Amino acid sequence: MPKKIILTGDRPSGKLHIGHYVGSLRQRVALQATGEYAQIFIMIADVQALTDNFADPEKVRQSVTEVALDYLGAGLDPDKVTIFIQSQVPELTELTTYYMNLVTVARLERNPTVKAEIKQKKFDTNIPAGFLCYPVSQAADITAFKATTVPVGEDQKPMLEQTREIVRRFNEIYTPVLVEPDILLAANKSCLRLPGTDGKAKMSKSLGNCIYLSDDAEAVQKKVMSMYTDPTHIRASDPGHLDGNTVFTYLDAFCRPEHFARYLADYVSLDELKDHYQRGGLGDVKVKKFLAAVLEEELAPIRQRRAEYAKDIPQIYAMLKQGSLEAREAAAQTLSEVRQAMHINYWE
Ligand code: TRP
Repeated sequence: MPKKIILTGDRPSGKLHIGHYVGSLRQRVALQATGEYAQIFIMIADVQALTDNFADPEKVRQSVTEVALDYLGAGLDPDKVTIFIQSQVPELTELTTYYMNLVTVARLERNPTVKAEIKQKKFDTNIPAGFLCYPVSQAADITAFKATTVPVGEDQKPMLEQTREIVRRFNEIYTPVLVEPDILLAANKSCLRLPGTDGKAKMSKSLGNCIYLSDDAEAVQKKVMSMYTDPTHIRASDPGHLDGNTVFTYLDAFCRPEHFARYLADYVSLDELKDHYQRGGLGDVKVKKFLAAVLEEELAPIRQRRAEYAKDIPQIYAMLKQGSLEAREAAAQTLSEVRQAMHINYWE
């Protein structure tokens, strides 16, 4: 069986937080070591970030470096994966133009993730055309590398559906040169959409409810100690609720059985801790201190690696440049097949 190919990425519109990490980044790090993939492309999607940050290009530029550092800090290995910058692979833009014919405006307006973003960004009826069309550009990103597998967060499901539709239409109308990709989601439900520290549905910079991969130990500790729990759990003796209790959602995403022996030896498992909390008699502070220790164990090595890489930014740029050259080569190959399929390969 031919080996599979991964393409995935993130918009550089800020630093990455632990929602990005458990939602997909941690899984990408694990996948690079499986040997299941012939190639792994990780893209910093600056072109997509500009669709709604076009007036703030310097923020996008700075964030490219931050995201690259977050990737390397989290453990992505440039010897195993190709990290590149979207704008440096112009083949993607050309593919986008051709795919634009294969989607309707009505279909673009139905994309639930784009719809939610339009609302959140208050575009109302002034939606930039580039923003509305970014799912088409995302289809170009994925198909340019003939990706079979796209590890992303749950919010990207509609993009994958649209990509698959574009692939099917292209292959039907022209020649079957494009590959239909599959989404790869985090297996653990709590990781699919990690809530903000305030209990709100999503971590988002504008809500100020994020724990960043680059946060220092003290900042993480402080954010954990002020996290949203169960508002009816006032005294330790009160019975507590787990539903919507952010501290327990984070524990579901990060805690492993061995953490108990290390940081909270009165319990052997998360189930036992949850039982006690629900019965009453277990205070929030104790659970939060445990969570802070669990998080610190996972985040400390990331933070240290990140800081090491941050000492040599020119080296980061060199890595991104090399990655972008490799990505261009792969994308150019697909583009040439696409041109042939579309009968625009005049000089061949
Ligand atoms: N939409 C993704 C995000 O918001 C970034 C992205 C752009 C992407 N192109 C992609 C992800 C292709 C996976 C595959 O972060």
